[in-house]
Amino acid sequence: MLSKIAKTTALVALTTCALNAADFNAQAEKDRLALIKYFEAKFENPEKNRNTFFPYSTDDELKNNIISGIKHKEFSIGNYAFSKNGKASYDEIKEFPPTEEWVEAGEELYGKKFANGKSFANCFPDPVKAATNHPYFDDKKKEVVTLTVAINQCLTSNGEKKWKTSKGKMANLQAYFVQSAQDEEKMVDVKIESKAASEAYERGKEYYYSQKGYLKLSCATCHVQGAAQRVRNESLSQLLGHTSHFPVYRLKWAAKDANNNGLGTLERRMAGCVKDQGQNPPKADSKEMRELLYFMSYMSNGMPIDGPDIRK
Ligand code: HEC
Repeated sequence: MLSKIAKTTALVALTTCALNAADFNAQAEKDRLALIKYFEAKFENPEKNRNTFFPYSTDDELKNNIISGIKHKEFSIGNYAFSKNGKASYDEIKEFPPTEEWVEAGEELYGKKFANGKSFANCFPDPVKAATNHPYFDDKKKEVVTLTVAINQCLTSNGEKKWKTSKGKMANLQAYFVQSAQDEEKMVDVKIESKAASEAYERGKEYYYSQKGYLKLSCATCHVQGAAQRVRNESLSQLLGHTSHFPVYRLKWAAKDANNNGLGTLERRMAGCVKDQGQNPPKADSKEMRELLYFMSYMSNGMPIDGPDIRK
């Protein structure tokens, strides 16, 4: 009897799956909503939630610095979202954003002709859509296409050399696309529309939650469970909204650059964190990196595209 019930349930589950194509994102949607709930609950009342979430924070931090009652979209500005002091200095820098110059440089690259007379406009006729349509899952090639990968594919298909994926022209052109989307108040809207796409999402998620290195850290250790805790002089930001503001201008990167160009891509930031975990980061165009980025971007669905942004 029991096994009959189990069989029928399994069958019903199977047919529902096959009939309803929109369900390919069902698990991802469940994950996303759970994540929003988790962070909203965590920050609802940090002082009261101390034992569950903030065991190492001082009374002073909990009372005077960590912001309470943060709602979904407000998480989009990284660790500035929950820190009163951080947010004050962030607002100050944003009055004269140092990113404008690089957005203009990106616009220039967009208009520049390749040797064959074509330009990026042939690959990306609408700069806004270039930002909103990536990353996506290409069902013919069975792979995730990130904006970085798409830009390099555009270059090579026009007989040009690939660009470096971490900074420089790559970051500038992306800044122009993302700023165009921000100007039109677009939201992150990553789609999962096939079984293969949902499998790519699951692999990205697995990477995110896998413990690595001798410290056995996963991305989630720091950016889910650890969000708002301090590591050295930084507070850990939350996964929610992690991808919506890239490329990012970092003071740390600017200090290292001869032209003071501190703008870097999402892949550059992710690779930095993998290195900090004591691992060799996957290449920007590798399957691992693309799928990890796909998972993270889906988690930011429904949040404003607010890049290029600034960070410490
Ligand atoms: C040991 C803790 C730690 C681990 C593990 C870790 N990170 Fe980070 N990460 C940081 C710190 C510190 C920063 C800088 C402060 C911040 O924004 O959180 C950061 C920043 C980031 C940012 C930029 C956030 C923003 O708002 O601009 C991204 C994206 C990111 N990490 C992704 C990852 C990914 C992906 C992994 C796993 C491969 C990972 N991190 C693992 C500590 C960690």
